[in-house]
Amino acid sequence: MVYITRRETFAAAHRLSKPGLSDEENFELFGKCSNPQWHGHNYTLEVVVAGNTDPETGFVMDLKELKKIIHKHVIDKVDHKNLNLDTDFMKGIIPTSENICIAIWNQLYDKIPSGKLYSVKLYETENNYFEYRGE
Ligand code: NI
Repeated sequence: MVYITRRETFAAAHRLSKPGLSDEENFELFGKCSNPQWHGHNYTLEVVVAGNTDPETGFVMDLKELKKIIHKHVIDKVDHKNLNLDTDFMKGIIPTSENICIAIWNQLYDKIPSGKLYSVKLYETENNYFEYRGE
């Protein structure tokens, strides 16, 4: 099995809040990410596909193709967008990095033409990252 990774970056705004809580209660729960007037992060996304190499091409899958798939189904929907308001696949979901990882997984897992999606990793800052492997 070979694991291939495509890295992408995007900038997005969000707010972490639970409906029904006051701004103070949301601040208690989510800290600065609860700012009612939004704020942004520069995210780094790593998508890993695992598979056997095709004897004809030597590829697990063509990374150019993987880049296109990630752009169409993820980056175009999140880059320079507000994750709470603009991103269809985040509707009704609190945009924590954990939830963004799971949502990106759900966007991609049935779009991979060869090999299979192995992991989605999201860096919110240099020191905080989150990974989802579908279970
Ligand atoms: Ni935040």
